[in-house]
Amino acid sequence: MLHLLLHLLFFISITPPPSLASTTPQALLSPITKDSLTSLYTLSLNTSTSLISLLLDLSSPFSWLPCPPNPHPLLCNSSFCSTANSFPPPHCPHFPKPHNHPCICTVSPANPLTGECPFAPFFHPIILTNISLFTITNVHKPTTHSLTFPNFLSVCSPKDITGVAGLARSPTSLSSQFSSSLSIKNQFALCLPSSSIASGIAFFGAEPFHLLPPRSPELTTMLSYTPLLQHPMNPKDYYVDLHAIAVNGVTVQFLKRVLEFDPLGHGGVKLSTTKPYTTMRSHIYRQFIRAFAKATKSIRRARKVAPFELCFNVTALGVSRVGFGVPKIDLMLAGGKNWTVFGANSVKKVGRETACLAFIDGGPKAEQAVVIGGFQMEDNFLLFDLDKKRLGFSSSLLFSAISCGNFNFTSV
Ligand SMILES: *[C@@H]1O[C@H](CO)[C@@H](O)[C@H](O)[C@H]1NC(C)=O
Ligand SMILES: *[C@@H]1O[C@H](CO)[C@@H](O)[C@H](O)[C@H]1NC(C)=O
Ligand SMILES: *[C@@H]1O[C@H](CO)[C@@H](O)[C@H](O)[C@H]1NC(C)=O
Ligand SMILES: *[C@@H]1O[C@H](CO)[C@@H](O)[C@H](O)[C@H]1NC(C)=O
Ligand SMILES: *[C@@H]1O[C@H](CO)[C@@H](O)[C@H](O)[C@H]1NC(C)=O
Ligand SMILES: *[C@@H]1O[C@H](CO)[C@@H](O)[C@H](O)[C@H]1NC(C)=O
Repeated sequence: MLHLLLHLLFFISITPPPSLASTTPQALLSPITKDSLTSLYTLSLNTSTSLISLLLDLSSPFSWLPCPPNPHPLLCNSSFCSTANSFPPPHCPHFPKPHNHPCICTVSPANPLTGECPFAPFFHPIILTNISLFTITNVHKPTTHSLTFPNFLSVCSPKDITGVAGLARSPTSLSSQFSSSLSIKNQFALCLPSSSIASGIAFFGAEPFHLLPPRSPELTTMLSYTPLLQHPMNPKDYYVDLHAIAVNGVTVQFLKRVLEFDPLGHGGVKLSTTKPYTTMRSHIYRQFIRAFAKATKSIRRARKVAPFELCFNVTALGVSRVGFGVPKIDLMLAGGKNWTVFGANSVKKVGRETACLAFIDGGPKAEQAVVIGGFQMEDNFLLFDLDKKRLGFSSSLLFSAISCGNFNFTSV
């Protein structure tokens, strides 16, 4: 492939054309779809040839797009190239780069879903493409229009990966590229949908953020904030400072030290959209399940359904605006604020009469103490503010009778 690229190579400037500046938007937006089979989320955007779905990945420092027939590769001497290579997958061997002239920029990323290292030789060129997203032209009436973002830098993806929307904390991420090229605020917000029927939404740039305008409140007014921590060895991931977990107002007892990083960088609490459910290291998980079982001891159980182990008979569960009527879970975060998890984000219906506590045992040696997964983020509004290094979280929007599916993408 590199050989082919060399023949196609020509030199390109990577600054956006001046015409874009006059129409600079405040924010870009994109629909988020849930795949009901895999419980993964995809973000959609248009390339010059087609509408594509990209796996939403908070840990990927760059995006992957399908390799076009005539790719425009980036040269090694660009500053983006060295930045893109400053995020080697943490546990992967370092391969020597092939020498080409002129030198085409390549990266060796790990598989975003499995974390598996690429096999040598496995160098993906960085390419420039034009992509289109929506931008809001009138926040009070849901009027959006398509905006073409030129010279977007992404990894040329292999055939078995359609694409990845890289949202990690890195200058090469989707959000950072929009921010630096369009001079918009370096922040993005996710509102993950809870079903595959209606799309959720990702915003890039500055508020105001509205769903269901004009009745709904501006979404940032519903947020509490907690610092985003930087992992000493893997600074691109989003970690939060979780102090404790409470079920029904009672703190779950476990050794709190693992919520912080140990000298090897293990431990801590990170956010991941590629983990369908929140995963806890075994000793935390056991205590958590025990606490939840105790708080729900009067509710009729059902036979457990893997991968879950605490399941209820649906007919014995009440239903409220925020999902099944089960005790609330408080994730007690630094800053003194709680991310409160109600039934809609804690108990998942897995059969006609069965609903289970949707948290997973990550095993005794799980790298992080807790990984907050997609199910727990659905119908919550999450703002990743990269300038202020903080996470804004709303807890369940369902309380305010809003859901992430409330943005009308058809009114373009
Ligand atoms: C990169 O190298 C090419 C030729 O190999 C040269 O034309 C170009 O000006 C260089 N760009 C930078 C930013 O140094
Ligand atoms: C992006 O679009 C412009 C205008 O249509 C075109 O000139 C340019 O070659 C495109 N760039 C890429 C990388 O496809
Ligand atoms: C993507 O392309 C489709 C079909 O051409 C169009 O309806 C849609 O508005 C486009 N979306 C964006 C974000 O440009
Ligand atoms: C957070 O949750 C804990 C346990 O439920 C509770 O005791 C505490 O008052 C809550 N804090 C806030 C600020 O709501
Ligand atoms: C749920 O409870 C009802 C009524 O007691 C019972 O008929 C049904 O078999 C139970 N279902 C499951 C999945 O346990
Ligand atoms: C979305 O907007 C379109 C066009 O304005 C309108 O026809 C449609 O009814 C709206 N859908 C919802 C669910 O409001």
